[in-house]
Amino acid sequence: LKFVCYSNDGVDEHMVWLIGLKNIFARQLPNMPKESHKSVMVIRRNHVVGGITYRPYVSQKFGEIAFCAITADEQVKGYGTRLMNHLKQHARDVDGLTHFLTYADNNAVGYFIKQGFTKEIHLEKDRWQGYIKDYDGGILMECKIDPKLPYID
Ligand code: ACO
Repeated sequence: LKFVCYSNDGVDEHMVWLIGLKNIFARQLPNMPKESHKSVMVIRRNHVVGGITYRPYVSQKFGEIAFCAITADEQVKGYGTRLMNHLKQHARDVDGLTHFLTYADNNAVGYFIKQGFTKEIHLEKDRWQGYIKDYDGGILMECKIDPKLPYID
């Protein structure tokens, strides 16, 4: 198992994985909008198993998680937790972010709570208002990224 993060960089292997991830999102999240940003992916035996696509607002130091899914037969094996830890480490150390916001689907709120997200938003409104899109049906949740914690070994 390895965790990687790529944008649309034109490398064939990366593109195959990104398309695979897009297909997982399309199946798992049928109402997803049609744009993507940066994606942390779980790769096992050269196949994408799941991932998180997020948009880093570097000037505001927060990221918006747009999509998060693990393929059906690989869920509840801990990949979702490890994926989130890789995302936090990458977002902090590469993008310089301090927080995540996401509109969580109702049935995913439990997963996000286990990853340290809360329904209380502590981030000052002027840091995020007007940046993230209001998304019908989701619950806005926040996660503070620890400035020092090693999220991955
Ligand atoms: N509700 C409550 N708890 C959950 C859920 C859930 N839907 N999913 C996982 N958990 C729990 C697990 O039981 C586990 O608890 P434990 O640590 O006490 O054992 C913990 O959360 C982590 O489980 P993982 O195995 O790491 O999670 P998994 O690999 O299954 O990934 C995910 C979780 C991404 C939510 C996956 O189940 C999935 O793809 N679901 C369908 C798509 C979806 O709902 N995505 C989120 C939509 S919201 C958005 O994208 C912004």
